Amino acid sequence: MIRFALFGAGFIGQVHGANIAACPRTKLQYVFDVNAEAAHKLAGRFGAKVAGSVEEVFAADDVDAVLIASSTNTHADLLSAAIKARKPVYCEKPIDMDLARVKAVVQEAHDNPVPIMMGFSRRFDPNHRALRQTVQAGEVGVVEMLHLVCRSSAPPPLAYIKVSGGQFRDQTIHMFDLLCWVAGQAPVEVYATGASMMDPAITEAGDVDTSMLILKFADGALCHIDNSRHTGYGYDERIEVFGSEGLVESRRKPIRDVAIYKGDKVIEDGMYAGWFERMEPSFLLAIDAFAAALEGETGIDYPTLQDGLRAQMIAEAAVASLKQGKPVQIEYWQPG
Ligand SMILES: NC(=O)c1ccc[n+]([C@@H]2O[C@H](COP(=O)([O-])OP(=O)(O)OC[C@H]3O[C@@H](n4cnc5c(N)ncnc54)[C@H](O)[C@@H]3O)[C@@H](O)[C@H]2O)c1
Repeated sequence: MIRFALFGAGFIGQVHGANIAACPRTKLQYVFDVNAEAAHKLAGRFGAKVAGSVEEVFAADDVDAVLIASSTNTHADLLSAAIKARKPVYCEKPIDMDLARVKAVVQEAHDNPVPIMMGFSRRFDPNHRALRQTVQAGEVGVVEMLHLVCRSSAPPPLAYIKVSGGQFRDQTIHMFDLLCWVAGQAPVEVYATGASMMDPAITEAGDVDTSMLILKFADGALCHIDNSRHTGYGYDERIEVFGSEGLVESRRKPIRDVAIYKGDKVIEDGMYAGWFERMEPSFLLAIDAFAAALEGETGIDYPTLQDGLRAQMIAEAAVASLKQGKPVQIEYWQPG
């Protein structure tokens, strides 16, 4: 049983808290949030203790691992504290918005390794996993093209967009991680273009809500990502991989796979209302996989801090490409 201390009792902290409590391999031991009321509310739901400070969590002898689900600007410091305390960490993305801080904490983790999983929970979606297994088994031959679609049903609040780092660092980052994980290699170049089609305030905030990106791999393979912050039909995420011997797709997932045939019409279920409704089951699978790895199970594949860094470097190059209006080479920094 892996006893977790959870930092952050906001939206995603509540999701993780419930999953840690539900997963047979894990126990929610402590919750810490600077908003003590939120911490008490969440801890109370699952019989966990409320920690009075970050220091109290790391001094406790009944904590086996920590989960960082607090605001983005706290991740780097909490990661650093966990590394110093030799505690395994599940950390929500992104590592930090500031690349210098990202590099510093990745270097620290490199020098003093502890298991660190990044919150790229989409990797645990059963359809995406099956697609990746098919590609990695060579069943579609050599990968020539990838197509990823990520369209949210509605944009987050403007206040969130203003501090999110923009669509690529906030939304597309999940696709950057997925494309590397599926293709088994990282792109070398990105061309990104976009616009704000739905709200001039998003343009004023320096962001886009509609974008397309073309990424190139060293072997010539190409990837196309299509993003939107708003659809009129729910959350739309899918992946297609086109190879020398075939094609595999992780399709649009309807709420139920049921069709009603009536007269000259066929009525089928549409998409889940939002990204969370579509992806919710993957969060529990992600916790279970990390706990299994910590328990010593071998062959568990989970996204690491290095994967978080890689996705972030692609996002930085995409932001530069959008600003410059031309393709940009992606620079991958590595700790030395
Ligand atoms: N993987 C995903 O799909 C996904 C989805 C949503 C959010 N996230 C990430 O999770 C993080 C939290 O997002 P959210 O939507 O839950 O935000 P939120 O604002 O709902 O919650 C953040 C919580 O962190 C608390 N907090 C702030 N400083 C703290 C500190 N020093 N110690 C402990 N708690 C502190 C706040 O009081 C708040 O309760 C963000 O980094 C976000 O990018 C990831």
